[in-house]
Amino acid sequence: MTEPDHPQKAHFSGIFHRASETYDAVGVDFFAPLAAQVVARADLSAGDSVLDLGCGRGAALFAAADAVGPSGHALGVDLAPGMVERTALDAERRGLTQVRVQLGDADQPPAHAGGWDAVLAAFVLFFLPDPVATATRVREVLRPGGRFVLSTFDVSDVRWKVVEAAVSPFWPPTNEPSHPATKSHFSSTAAVEELLAEAGFVDVDTVLVEHVSVYRDVQQWLDWTWSAGARVIWERVPEADLEAAQAAAYDVVAGLVEPDGMLRERFAVRLHRAVGP
Ligand SMILES: C[S@@+](CC[C@H](N)C(=O)[O-])C[C@H]1O[C@@H](n2cnc3c(N)ncnc32)[C@H](O)[C@@H]1O
Repeated sequence: MTEPDHPQKAHFSGIFHRASETYDAVGVDFFAPLAAQVVARADLSAGDSVLDLGCGRGAALFAAADAVGPSGHALGVDLAPGMVERTALDAERRGLTQVRVQLGDADQPPAHAGGWDAVLAAFVLFFLPDPVATATRVREVLRPGGRFVLSTFDVSDVRWKVVEAAVSPFWPPTNEPSHPATKSHFSSTAAVEELLAEAGFVDVDTVLVEHVSVYRDVQQWLDWTWSAGARVIWERVPEADLEAAQAAAYDVVAGLVEPDGMLRERFAVRLHRAVGP
């Protein structure tokens, strides 16, 4: 299955396809350090097999490839063609013969003979329309004792809520599919752990970590928003209003500049780990 079979999937694969050229490449450290922590929780060893769902530009995939080494096997799957093409090229350039990247839906995780040793999903599961069903299928492709490690967002930095307040008046009321069912599964650590238990996992636990993104100026923050999932806020604005919406955001974000001239955004991130029975 390579064409999105649900409007929510089509929406997000489009967003990330358009972000793929500059994704994780505007000089802001975010995905790589957090993906490294996801990979660390998977306890990978040389020779292991690992599946990375929603691999994006490879933040977790390449760290996992290092952990399993040339005798291992790391498969990245993503629904955004731009992500897949660019990450496959990066893998080739890096000479990583243990890595494969393919277009696919996290909802239909590919099987591996004997089951995967680990499946990763760094900032992905909350994009799926039915995350319990997706997690259940992940469990089915893991070997007994295999690990599913995923990251999700906890409460965000309240100071930055000024951005949505400034931009949302430019959003027409009906131009965005809303995903309330998905959101409810990610409202708290307990909700995600319940989702994983419902999907049949055991030994579910979560570690909460803080990540501080540093932007050297408002323009770098703006570039970052276009390069990541945050571009949803801009794609909701009608073309004719985009300049005004960005100017409004620019003004409120300028108010967050700290005495040393930098901007800092704090992210509370949950690293969940669950084991296949
Ligand atoms: C926030 S990015 C995270 C990328 C990467 N895991 C990382 O940590 O940098 C989410 C990724 O999930 C992908 N994605 C969203 N829905 C998907 C689905 N149903 N199947 C596969 N990939 C999906 C997007 O295309 C995007 O590359």
